[in-house]
Amino acid sequence: MDSRLPYDRLWAVRLRSCSASLSEVEPGGNDWSRSALTISRRAGPARQFPTRPARPGAPAAAPVPLSAAPPWPDDSDPQFWDRIRDQFYIKPGEAYFNTGTIGATPRPVLERVIEDMRTLQATITRWDWSPNMPNWISGYSPEVALRAKLAKLVNADASEIALIQNATMGMNFLAHGLDLKAGDEIISTNQEHPSGVCGWQMRAKRDGVIWKPITMPVPANDPDEIVHLYEQAITPRTRALSFPHIISPTAVVMPAKRLSALAHDHGCLAVVDGADGIGQVKLDMKDIGCDACFSSPHKWLLAPPGNGMLYIPREKQDRFWTTLDSSEWDNHKDGMYRFMQCGTGNMSLLAALDAAIDFHNRIGPERVRARIKFLADRLRTGLQQIPSARISSPVHPELAGGIVVHRLEGVPAQKLQDELWLRGQLRVRSVGDALGVRQSCMIYNSEGEIDSTLEIVKALRATPA
Ligand SMILES: Cc1ncc(COP(=O)(O)O)c(C=O)c1O
Repeated sequence: MDSRLPYDRLWAVRLRSCSASLSEVEPGGNDWSRSALTISRRAGPARQFPTRPARPGAPAAAPVPLSAAPPWPDDSDPQFWDRIRDQFYIKPGEAYFNTGTIGATPRPVLERVIEDMRTLQATITRWDWSPNMPNWISGYSPEVALRAKLAKLVNADASEIALIQNATMGMNFLAHGLDLKAGDEIISTNQEHPSGVCGWQMRAKRDGVIWKPITMPVPANDPDEIVHLYEQAITPRTRALSFPHIISPTAVVMPAKRLSALAHDHGCLAVVDGADGIGQVKLDMKDIGCDACFSSPHKWLLAPPGNGMLYIPREKQDRFWTTLDSSEWDNHKDGMYRFMQCGTGNMSLLAALDAAIDFHNRIGPERVRARIKFLADRLRTGLQQIPSARISSPVHPELAGGIVVHRLEGVPAQKLQDELWLRGQLRVRSVGDALGVRQSCMIYNSEGEIDSTLEIVKALRATPA
């Protein structure tokens, strides 16, 4: 192996060395399951991939072998979305509607992580720390190329993006890194995901900062009302307006651009919890004009868990101290590299983030968003025809996204969740009786699955709990 390879060839080299090392153990082998078996036979008795330990009483999951992704469909293929669905491990006949918690990982993305980890193990002796050698661990390297690729997706610059582990980490960097004193106020909503707000609550307890939540309407169907609620709460002591781009339990796509402008009109920072935005709706940092945004690409961008994004525009970066430090903690030249000082991490997860962005771009961000909207609109429209169905998420076109939260009068949310699974193998998530179930519509869902949802809701209406 050439030990002076240019940095930007890092991934190509790792992939090449992977197939080379695999064909050493099994000539011509590019079938990952067979190769893995061959490797384990050399090490000892043949072994299947281990099953995950089941919770007591839960049926054990059968091992699922790795398999190559089916061919990619032509753009004009009338079955385009069915073929895209084949790119996932989701079983035929089952439907996954919980992308709001975590996205299903596409086969090429999952296989990239595994392939990359195997490459590492097979070539670890060759890592000689020479300057242009591919890096085998994350946590100490700037990863400019990948940051630039992610930045392009959200209309930012690489130097404005830090690769972190999830939204929670981003939120905590912001809440703990900002100079605040007793009596300073932070305004957010009463519908925050804990990870979007607990950092502020901790500052309230530790430093006497005042955390002020506004009460969101349910359902929220008036963007002006939301902006007005924030406006009314601002005082001369307000330092930041903090809000989710998409609210976790009620799925409101907040008027982020208007709220950011409102913050600036009052000399405050606009801090956006963008956990659910990236991949679901257009996330354009320059257009929104916020001062910080953190996101979880493992949701709608379909990267594996362990990947996060933190954005702070150049001119605001020095407002935030780092709170997790290693050698580059004080490097203010490369913008956000300071926030990537996490210590040894799994580089293969970054390879998978790279693959997830490729997957997303291969379909096309606009086509993805249009599909999500089409499915969610179909669900909203169908629910509106069912007399005792209630939609707790917005239907207003500016506030509605890919998640629909709905309930059925007289039916507990958990029962609705369970019935959708038992009758239709549709996996949604209960968010409590007041709101119902949260149904995240994603590219691996189909019109048929939406229609099954509506049929089951109708049937349940006829035979309530
Ligand atoms: C709005 C919102 N914020 C923050 C989080 C936390 O994200 P993570 O667990 O990836 O850190 C979530 C997760 O569901 C969320 O929906």
